[in-house]
Amino acid sequence: MKVVVFETEEWEHQACLRLEPQHEVECTRERLDPHTAAPYASTEIVSTFVNSQLGADVLTQFPRLKLIATRSTGYDHIDLDWCKAHGVAVANVPDYGDSTVAEHAFALLLAVARNLVESVERTRRGDFSQTGLRGFELRGKTLGVIGTGRIGRRAIEIARGLGMDVVAYDLYPDEDAATQLGFRYADLDEVLAGADALTLHVPATAGTASLISDREFALMKPDVILINTARGNIVDVPALVRALSDGRVKAAGLDVLPQEPLVREEAQIFRETSTDGYDLKALVANHVLLRFPNVIVTPHIAYNTQSAVRRIIETTVENIEAFGRGEPRHLVSLA
Ligand code: NAI
Repeated sequence: MKVVVFETEEWEHQACLRLEPQHEVECTRERLDPHTAAPYASTEIVSTFVNSQLGADVLTQFPRLKLIATRSTGYDHIDLDWCKAHGVAVANVPDYGDSTVAEHAFALLLAVARNLVESVERTRRGDFSQTGLRGFELRGKTLGVIGTGRIGRRAIEIARGLGMDVVAYDLYPDEDAATQLGFRYADLDEVLAGADALTLHVPATAGTASLISDREFALMKPDVILINTARGNIVDVPALVRALSDGRVKAAGLDVLPQEPLVREEAQIFRETSTDGYDLKALVANHVLLRFPNVIVTPHIAYNTQSAVRRIIETTVENIEAFGRGEPRHLVSLA
């Protein structure tokens, strides 16, 4: 089958060569979007990372498409309804690095708790003053965890290791995990009201869009810290800006923002004839957010460690091989 692997680095090309000669493979650095799709119209298997947006406007340009092998756990960048209607399978990488993402959540939390970014910026300027740099400890504080799947549970283990109490919310509580790891479940409002710091580990779905908005911020303890390594649209960014401005939220550490591809390349707006598909208010809110001194933002790198990216490409190659053999694996449910 004809396979095109988008958003690849040189070393990933080598890993993909294993697919030959069963498949005809092409690797490109390009993102897949409505403007880059045309030369690849005969492709049967497409692999991308999350910076590509696989909506109907892109997918209709692949009349022979059979499989999308996303190199990610999340698949909210893919129009699953379109895939179902057109008989296109979607495979993901379900468990390449629970620790990888959970550790980054704590990198953000510890950085915020100890004013790490501002401290380092000062000493780089030769300024060793401590004014405004007094931090706070995590030991004995309560961490609220929203979503206790693979990454959420690993985050809980780390929190317990640091001496934090944990209260968690999930649509499907896992009481065995609660007993084993030493945390308790509560409903969403109780978690929001009881946490000194909150970390989000739910997928982006219709049910989690703007899960954290004005009402939720109003329930939180004053001086709460918010950490988001899940997906940008789980937090209503204009509401977060309001909560930060009012001092309700002490600080935030974010690895994800809504409309990330657009944040990376805003010039794209000017290539479109209409801005109907864009939430321009949220885009402006992202910019305001980036200017808060008590907000740190990383460019969606929670997944990005040496060992995790190797596991991601290995699993993706295996997903494509298995699909080619007629034994598909790691298929995302299109129900
Ligand atoms: P998972 O599927 O193991 O766990 C998700 C949990 O969320 C499940 O326990 C599920 O019951 C719960 N959940 C789903 N909808 C919910 C709702 N409406 N309310 C409450 N709970 C709900 O997923 P995993 O592996 O822990 O990953 C979580 C998310 O992390 C991914 O979907 C992805 O978006 C994000 N992620 C971010 C990365 C990054 O680089 N920043 C890398 C990898 C994943």
